[in-house]
Amino acid sequence: MKAGHSGEEMKFLLVAFLWTCWALPLARADDVAAGRAIAQDQYKGNCLACHRMPGDPSAVTLANLGPVLKDIRSRYPDRAELRRRVWDASTFNPDTIMPPYGRHRILTEQEIDAVVDYIRGL
Ligand code: HEC
Repeated sequence: MKAGHSGEEMKFLLVAFLWTCWALPLARADDVAAGRAIAQDQYKGNCLACHRMPGDPSAVTLANLGPVLKDIRSRYPDRAELRRRVWDASTFNPDTIMPPYGRHRILTEQEIDAVVDYIRGL
């Protein structure tokens, strides 16, 4: 019976592990940039039609139909709850004017994740 891993296997595992450590934060940064683009795109999230985001100087708007989006991470420590709001805000308020991005497939699941990652940084 073979005991433990060979040197080659160990080297491979180490390289794979290091690559993951290096690549994961990059993936997050990409998602945040993608999320910003989706939030600001008039034909995608169009969040700036209703929300100001004072934490992001590139989010230029005078909108006041929705609450100012700031301190999101501390106000919504549970990412899943925040995501549910973006997916379908009407589950929290049946009279909301916020579009149900997931339920109406305005955004894909992946786009919603990117937007959620972006607004958690606000
Ligand atoms: C047509 C206007 C409108 C658009 C567009 C809109 N929202 Fe909203 N949003 C609202 C309103 C109004 C509320 C207040 C809560 C409610 O109505 O239930 C809200 C609430 C929220 C909340 C909770 C805020 C809080 O202070 O608790 C988040 C987070 C949010 N919106 C994110 C987004 C994101 C992200 C987008 C774009 C993908 C977006 N909204 C687009 C109108 C909008």
